[in-house]
Amino acid sequence: MNKRNLGNGFGISEIGLGCGNLSYGYGDPIRLLQEAVEHGITFFDTVSFHKNNMAEDIVGDALRFYKSKTCVATRCDIGTKKMQLRERIQAMRKSVETSLNRLHRETIDLCYVAHMDIYVCVEAFAETMQQLMREGKVRYWGLLNADLSIVQKANTIFPITAVQNQYSLARRNAENKLIAGLEKLHIGLVAACPLGGQEMMNRYNYECRQIKQSNSEKQTAQRMTRENARIIEVVRNMAEMIGATPAQVMLAWILQQRPWIVPIPGTRLRKRVYENIHAQAVDLTEYEWNMFNEELARHKI
Ligand SMILES: NC(=O)c1ccc[n+]([C@@H]2O[C@H](COP(=O)([O-])OP(=O)(O)OC[C@H]3O[C@@H](n4cnc5c(N)ncnc54)[C@H](OP(=O)(O)O)[C@@H]3O)[C@@H](O)[C@H]2O)c1
Repeated sequence: MNKRNLGNGFGISEIGLGCGNLSYGYGDPIRLLQEAVEHGITFFDTVSFHKNNMAEDIVGDALRFYKSKTCVATRCDIGTKKMQLRERIQAMRKSVETSLNRLHRETIDLCYVAHMDIYVCVEAFAETMQQLMREGKVRYWGLLNADLSIVQKANTIFPITAVQNQYSLARRNAENKLIAGLEKLHIGLVAACPLGGQEMMNRYNYECRQIKQSNSEKQTAQRMTRENARIIEVVRNMAEMIGATPAQVMLAWILQQRPWIVPIPGTRLRKRVYENIHAQAVDLTEYEWNMFNEELARHKI
């Protein structure tokens, strides 16, 4: 598996694994994660503090014996606007401690600060993160769903390693300004929902009848917009042309954008982990790249 650097020399596999939707109720997530390591994935992006979310526990259990080979990213809670600043800093520290316990690790490799209202007291959050890094509890920090202005501000207080925002063919223009800014600041982008998220892929999978879907999966598939359905069509045509799968084309498109962007596709199926990893072997020629982007540009997003 090829490697990529986010910011500050943080090196990881060029395709990570989005672990936010893993659950003990579906398949064998432990085996899935361990096979991902065996296939060369070293970056596992998980989620903390969501109600009933088991993602951190699963990642912690599965990677317990692979710590030296793997890096884990998670989010840190910073309380709510109603709280005093002191209480919010306490919430932040508590969240990091809870994640460390669940992950069975001494250090979180990449910790994102998650809330939109970080604007209110970005200095205090950045300084606390710096402290947590000095204490060895966090290796690198990042921002989640951030716009360029907050990235610039936070980065002047303490250098950021990565921003995690949604980025895919279905959201390809939304992040252009952010990407240009990150490039100047040498900060990496972790591309969340790189396959357009569950709505987009459920529809594709539904049409392909690849797997039996639950009622809720069928409902999300039906909610997909007409624009996304057209994007899927363009992707499918390109995939047929170059002999790859649609998911591989979507990931290859992200990988070819910039060498410091790392997609984190999520899947609950082992065979798809393997399929998605092989996107790294898909290299669109200049002709294919131009044709693909021209086709995509015909469809609004
Ligand atoms: N920053 C944010 O706001 C934000 C928002 C949402 C998610 N995230 C993070 O981003 C990560 C990825 O997001 P996501 O899983 O929601 O979206 P995604 O990676 O864009 O898409 C996942 C969907 O695609 C399907 N899929 C995966 N590989 C496939 C393949 N090769 N062929 C066909 N279908 C495939 C999955 O179904 P199966 O599981 O059935 O394979 C699932 O429905 C998550 O771990 C999450 O933590 C971040």
